[in-house]
Amino acid sequence: MHIGFIGTGEISKAVILGILGTNLSIKKIYISRRNKKISNYLKNKSKKIVILNHNQEIVDKSKLIFLAVTPEVGRKIIKTMKFKKSNIVVSFISTINLNDLKKYIKVKCQIVRAIPLPPISLGVGPVPIYPPNKKVKRLFDKIGRTIEIKNEKLSLNFWTMSSMMAPYYEILSQLSNWLIKKGLSKKQSENYISSLFLGLSKNAHQNKYSDFKELVKKSQTSKGLNEQALKELKKSDFYKKLNTTSNNILMRLKGK
Ligand SMILES: NC(=O)c1ccc[n+]([C@@H]2O[C@H](COP(=O)([O-])OP(=O)(O)OC[C@H]3O[C@@H](n4cnc5c(N)ncnc54)[C@H](OP(=O)(O)O)[C@@H]3O)[C@@H](O)[C@H]2O)c1
Repeated sequence: MHIGFIGTGEISKAVILGILGTNLSIKKIYISRRNKKISNYLKNKSKKIVILNHNQEIVDKSKLIFLAVTPEVGRKIIKTMKFKKSNIVVSFISTINLNDLKKYIKVKCQIVRAIPLPPISLGVGPVPIYPPNKKVKRLFDKIGRTIEIKNEKLSLNFWTMSSMMAPYYEILSQLSNWLIKKGLSKKQSENYISSLFLGLSKNAHQNKYSDFKELVKKSQTSKGLNEQALKELKKSDFYKKLNTTSNNILMRLKGK
């Protein structure tokens, strides 16, 4: 199969690297020269990658087309491209809903919204898709784990959670900076913090706990350090703010 990417930013790069790490029978991956640094980097990764100068050329040569531009750019350029009925268009764009995509694309091809995140470059991570689509599921199941969602309103909850990526990494960054101030080198502290949180996430994901509540409980000893840290953070409304921000992001996704 021939596939193409409109927009060559962070998420295209991650998905393409993920694809290159699989045995998927993809003959060519057409990408746009934009962004030059990423397109050149990808070109050096595989002979399958072909850089083209115009978005329409990418669409013309591809069966499966990924839309990976910002919403502002998407609203301008999707309607200028000519798609075919046989195309499958997968949009990574956060705030253009399925109805608008249908309007911009005009022809009645298959259109799917998907939420991959950068860990897909390593072949890990969930990929929520809406609406369910067998071919798209098969592809993402090779790179990560597809979650098919039956209604768009529900899918917005997954988009909301995807916004926690940068806040999560900021936690790692803050904790690492704290260690640096205590005298550790940047390399040592970043290695320690990332492997600490990797281990904690693996434990939550792979070990058998009845739920996260039990995990939180089992992670504290009475009068211990974890109990103190949790109490203090709760008191400062640290966790309540996660709820407030999630609600605000969801409202934005709903266009309110
Ligand atoms: N990053 C993520 O983790 C993530 C996850 C899920 C979904 N998404 C969604 O995916 C989309 C892209 O995100 P991103 O983080 O990859 O953004 P990004 O790094 O800013 O990439 C956007 C890309 O679009 C290109 N572009 C701009 N105008 C264009 C045009 N007229 N024709 C073709 N390409 C054009 C840019 O090229 P230049 O650099 O040359 O301007 C750049 O390569 C967004 O809608 C975002 O919501 C992102």
